[in-house]
Amino acid sequence: MGLLSSLSLTISIVILLLCLYPNSLATTSNRVELTHVDAVANLTTAELLRRAVQRSQLRISSLTAKAKLAGSLPANPVHPGNGEYLAVLFIGTPPQEFLAIIDTGSDLAWTQCDPCVECYYQPSPKFNSSISSTFSYLPCSSKLCQAFQFHGCNQSCVYEYYYIDFSYTRGFLAAETFYLGFNPVHNIAFGCGKNNDGAGFSQAGGILGLGRGPLSLISQLNLTRFAYCFISFGRPDGRGFLVFGSPPNLDGTEQHTAMIQNPSMPSAYYVNLNGITVGETLVPIASSTFELSEDGTGGMVIDSGTTYTALEETGYEPVMQAFKSQVNLPSVDGSDFGLDLCFQLPSNSSSFQAPKLVFHFDGADLDLPQENYFVVDPASAVVCLMLMSTTGPSVLGNLQQQNMLVVYDLESEQLLFRPAQCDQM
Ligand SMILES: *[C@@H]1O[C@H](CO)[C@@H](O)[C@H](O)[C@H]1NC(C)=O
Ligand SMILES: *[C@@H]1O[C@H](CO)[C@@H](O)[C@H](O)[C@H]1NC(C)=O
Ligand SMILES: *[C@@H]1O[C@H](CO)[C@@H](O)[C@H](O)[C@H]1NC(C)=O
Ligand SMILES: *[C@@H]1O[C@H](CO)[C@@H](O)[C@H](O)[C@H]1NC(C)=O
Ligand SMILES: *[C@@H]1O[C@H](CO)[C@@H](O)[C@H](O)[C@H]1NC(C)=O
Repeated sequence: MGLLSSLSLTISIVILLLCLYPNSLATTSNRVELTHVDAVANLTTAELLRRAVQRSQLRISSLTAKAKLAGSLPANPVHPGNGEYLAVLFIGTPPQEFLAIIDTGSDLAWTQCDPCVECYYQPSPKFNSSISSTFSYLPCSSKLCQAFQFHGCNQSCVYEYYYIDFSYTRGFLAAETFYLGFNPVHNIAFGCGKNNDGAGFSQAGGILGLGRGPLSLISQLNLTRFAYCFISFGRPDGRGFLVFGSPPNLDGTEQHTAMIQNPSMPSAYYVNLNGITVGETLVPIASSTFELSEDGTGGMVIDSGTTYTALEETGYEPVMQAFKSQVNLPSVDGSDFGLDLCFQLPSNSSSFQAPKLVFHFDGADLDLPQENYFVVDPASAVVCLMLMSTTGPSVLGNLQQQNMLVVYDLESEQLLFRPAQCDQM
């Protein structure tokens, strides 16, 4: 391609992106917009909650199953399919839109690739490799082909990639240009999925794995940092963002806590949760409750794809008790919302002042704003605590990460976070 035509192509891409995202002029070139999976639907609070509970339950039971199987399924990622936030990416030359579920719990980036053998329905057009001048199949001998637990050879590398609930993608390992914001990066290995199926994939064209393994975009680009900011659950029309590299918005007020690795779940990012405060009370929980054990069980994963934070049940119960004893309202059945602890607001008031909720990590306190752990359903004047119980690893869900800048620093193995208004950064 000549210099002029590639220049005009670049200009038209920039114009295209500017038309799509007129507010992103002042932003960095390696940043993509995040939209919520429920943004397309017009849902009531109760419906939003029910959908989120279903997604969380699926995801958490998958994590639990995975932890129990640790050892027998060493290379398998956790279940990604019910991820909450979609990144708006462009791939190929000329660029084609790729709406990807972002998943810090798995590694592979893949998209449904036309012509499909068996693809699920997706609302947007599928990726058509034959109209991209930068698409290529990767050879069977390529290093990343070997990184798959299940791979083979049909002229070029073929892969099978399974998630713990037996969702899967199968297809050809290929390389393509990815636009991470305005910034094109060439020869990114990704799955050109010919045969894909899974619960919860349907809003997206595929998955963008952001885990620690060799296949992930983060590893392929040797990134030492990436960051995201999730918009409020209650504002599904708003936009958050994902930054590849260091975000420009660090202001020194971020808290830092150590990230740890679990050889049984090599893709996942773990943090150390030491204790929980409700109101003014440090909840009585044994200090080992959230510890990662030598055998790979326990611990707490920070996850972009789980909605509600799930706490190991022996830690969850005392937290429930603390809220029950400190909230001075009649409790009501929350099963309609799929949540355990709900209260009836007085009929003459819809405002509610919750006791504080603080997660104490190594060296950092996450003092949650009320909207990150209590939700009010205006229709029924019921307010519910957005936490769940689990017997697997505990999970810091994305609801508890909303309105925060969250930075993964892989060089120092630190997680940085601070409160932020995602749509104003
Ligand atoms: C969403 O639903 C509400 C109530 O059913 C309705 O008033 C509103 O017009 C709908 N909005 C859109 C964008 O469909
Ligand atoms: C992909 O693009 C080619 C070239 O424009 C076209 O002939 C083909 O029908 C497209 N494939 C699909 C599945 O749309
Ligand atoms: C190899 O790939 C081609 C093209 O996708 C396909 O038609 C064929 O069935 C594959 N062969 C095997 C053995 O899977
Ligand atoms: C990442 O690092 C590896 C090994 O150090 C190197 O081969 C590769 O070219 C690097 N990739 C990028 C995009 O810098
Ligand atoms: C709401 O009603 C309760 C009981 O009837 C009363 O004690 C309280 O003062 C009222 N609150 C407001 C804001 O009117």
